[in-house]
Parts: sequence; C-alpha cells; structure tokens
Amino acid sequence: MSKKYLIETFGCQMNFHDSERMAGLLEQAGYESTEDDLDADVIVINTCSVRERAEEKLFTRLGELQHQAVEQGQRPVVAVAGCVAQQEGAAIRQRSKAVDVIIGTRSLKHLPMLVDAAVERRAVHPAAAPTLDLDPLEDVSFPLGVAKRHDPLKAYVTIIEGCNEFCAFCVVPYTRGAERMRSVADIVAEARHAVDTGAKEIQLLGQIVNHYQAPDDPTCDFADLLTRLNDIEGLDRIRFASPHPRHVTSRMIEALCDLDKVCRHLHLPVQSGSSDVLRTMRRRHTREDYLGLVSRLREAMPDIALSTDIIVGFPGESAEQFEQTLTLTEAVRYHSMFSFKYSPRPNTLALKRLPDDVTAEEKTRRIMELQSRQRRIQGELYGAAIGRTEDVLIDSRSRRRDWELSGRTSGNTVVNLSGDPSWIGRTLPVRITGANPNSLRGEAVV
Ligand code: SAH
Ligand code: SF4
Ligand code: F3S
Repeated sequence: MSKKYLIETFGCQMNFHDSERMAGLLEQAGYESTEDDLDADVIVINTCSVRERAEEKLFTRLGELQHQAVEQGQRPVVAVAGCVAQQEGAAIRQRSKAVDVIIGTRSLKHLPMLVDAAVERRAVHPAAAPTLDLDPLEDVSFPLGVAKRHDPLKAYVTIIEGCNEFCAFCVVPYTRGAERMRSVADIVAEARHAVDTGAKEIQLLGQIVNHYQAPDDPTCDFADLLTRLNDIEGLDRIRFASPHPRHVTSRMIEALCDLDKVCRHLHLPVQSGSSDVLRTMRRRHTREDYLGLVSRLREAMPDIALSTDIIVGFPGESAEQFEQTLTLTEAVRYHSMFSFKYSPRPNTLALKRLPDDVTAEEKTRRIMELQSRQRRIQGELYGAAIGRTEDVLIDSRSRRRDWELSGRTSGNTVVNLSGDPSWIGRTLPVRITGANPNSLRGEAVV
C-alpha cells in the first residue's frame, strides 16, 4: 500500500505554489494525497514568517501534532518547509520534538529523498534528530508538468525567486535568498503546458515581477514576457503579483494597455502614504512618485482596478504620518486592500535599528480606521459597478450556495451568478445587478 501525504500551507501565493510543486514531487515518488491528518504517513507544513503571528502558527500546529501523537501512540513523519524552516533551521527542533525534516525554501526538490530517509530512520530509531537541508541551491528550474495544480483553471507560474530589495521591515530576502530569474524558455513552456492541460488563466509569481529580465534572452524584460505569453492560444487571462511601484516602466504600461489577455488589475503595494515613513522603510519611492504613477496608469487605462498592501504602526510612524496613509487611500480609491500591523522580524534592518514604538492599542486603532475607510470606498466602487456589463471568467461553484456559480472580473472582483455548471471555465459577459461588501451579483448576458 502506498504511503499517504498531507501538505498544510501558510503564507503567500509563492508558498501555495511551492506546495503544488512538493505535492507533485511526492506523487512522483509514489506517495498518495490524503485530506485527513490521522491517515497521513507524512505531513509537510509549508510555513510563513512574514509576521510573528504567521510564524507562531507553525508552533501551534506542531503542538497539536505532538498531542495527537501521544493520544494515538504514534505520529506521522513531519517535515517543516518554507520560510520559517529557512530562517530558524535547527532551532525549530528545540521548540518541538515533533519534527523529522527541516527543509529550506531553496532545497524543495530534495523533499522526497529526505522524507523517504526519515521514514526509514524513524522505523529504526524513533527519537532520531531531524535532517536539516538548508542548501542555498541557485537552480530555479523545475521539471515540466510535475507541479500538482490545485485549481484546474488557474495556473501559477514562478518567474523570479528571492528578492534583493531589503525593505526595512521584510524578512523575505533572508528567507527566500537573492533574486534569481527563471529562463523565459522555461516560463513559456510551463505556461503552454498549463494551457494544454486545461488552464485558462496564468498567474505569474515573484516578489517584484516587473523586475524580470530573462537570463536566456537579453531582449526579454517583463513587458516582453507579457507579450510572449499573450500569444499563447487557448489562454484567456494573465495576472501577476506583485509589481513594485518603482519598477513600473512606460514599456510596461504600454504592454498592459495593448495586450488583450492581461487583466485590468494591478496589485501595487504602497505600504505607507508618508514619504518620510517610506524612506525609513527603504521603499525607494515617495508618496508623490506613487500618486504620479497612479495618475499615469489611470490616464492610460481609466478602467484599471488597483489594490495594495499597507503597514500601520511602522517604527516612528506619527499620527500625522498615519493620516497621510488615510489621505492617500482616499485619493487612490483601491478596489481592495490588505492591511497589516507592523510586526518586527528577525534579521531585518528595522529590528536592528528602529524601536517598535507604536503601541499595540494605537496599531489597532489605526488599522481599524484604515479598514473602515477602505470598506466605504470599496462599497462605493462596487455600488458604481451595478448596471455595467463585465467579462467574468466563471471559475467555480459559489462557496455559499451550491447552485450558484462564481467568477472574477478582469479587475479581480468576485461575481456570483446563477447558471449552468457547464459554464465553468468560460469567460462570459455578465450584467452586474447587486453589490455586497466583498463581491458583486450578476446575470449572464446570453
Ligand atoms: N514582495 C511584495 C511583498 C511581499 S510580503 C512586495 O514588495 O510588494 C506581503 C506584504 O506583507 C507586504 O507588502 C507588507 O505589506 C506585509 N509585510 C511584510 N513584512 C511585514 C512586517 N514585518 N510587518 C507587517 N507587515 C509586513
Ligand atoms: Fe519584501 Fe520589499 Fe522584497 Fe517585497 S520588495 S519581498 S516587501 S523586501
Ligand atoms: Fe511568502 Fe510568507 Fe515566505 S509571505 S515568501 S511565505 S515569509
């Protein structure tokens, strides 16, 4: 009987895609997937370290597994992968005994070998110390067709790994290593393969996608990559996350305008509305640069939807500086926003140099104020969509009601509608008839 695996994923899309890759590798090695942790021979926890609370989820989960093991009299082989594994290495074992393999973000291809070895070792020596593999492998290639896609219609395609930007608050350059570009040949081959196996949408992944420069073709930058992907027959939509504001070039804006498959949505993290805070964050753009960029984008594409990430309570952020984040939010009018309370992270410049001096209560007050403004703006934008007809890629049955379908506009807003499940995978014109706080309602125009 083949052994069963379960992968639990925390963190960003990059991690979700790494989990798809690890699932594919384990299946290639003869493991079968299971959804039940009591049935699993191997549990892989793919971790995130971006904020303290994300990191703590690993230790909560390891505690649960340890507890289950005591009750069951045995426990599965446990592998910790992802950003906390890379950051903490062997120290993880000091906080929990329930770990057999610790595997860093760049050694993912070694997973089946390490897990096999751990299964054998555990059979002989149940309390053996964990295997550690934090090798900084620089090779960003990945075998074609191995990743196990979670969503049949949407395929993640990594274009850049790592990051060299070193924003003062961010742990990612330490957990993911230096920026490495994947070859354009590999990217296009993977996108074509995804489309050949049913994908309608490609989502390109990287910490700063618009920094892309093909290592195998000096003429291919991010705009050119989009152009090449736009030519793939059978592909309906191209999305990407995240671009960095300071790398949005005129060439890129032209490509967004000209290419029919590139969605009218840009996730453009701003982090703060204050140029002084942006300087201490080392974002290397000002409030004025950002607002200027938003104007240029809107001039070129009046219908483009923007979303963003914002941190409140960064060290030294005064009430006036936070106010500037509110005025920027009002000026840009984002379709959606992810907002976070600043959380000091290991190794970062902010941790070393800047005291975490905004109190927990004040961070809470600021995030609530920001979110309430965002809710109002979002409500207004969604309300204004009523009566319009939008192209919606129908991607699933609605989560709430079984007979309903769900899809997304080009601008990335969720739309629920009644319809036939055979529509899943098609892009249809939908008339918007109603708005909820986080989704729209519509009727297909057939
Ligand atoms: N590469 C992406 C961001 C990846 S991290 C970019 O530059 O846009 C995702 C988001 O988490 C960031 O945009 C930031 O808003 C948030 N974040 C990162 N580190 C954080 C920290 N220490 N505390 C709070 N939020 C943080
Ligand atoms: Fe982190 Fe900045 Fe790199 Fe984004 S660009 S991953 S926020 S260091
Ligand atoms: Fe992603 Fe979290 Fe790592 S956001 S890159 S999984 S620290």
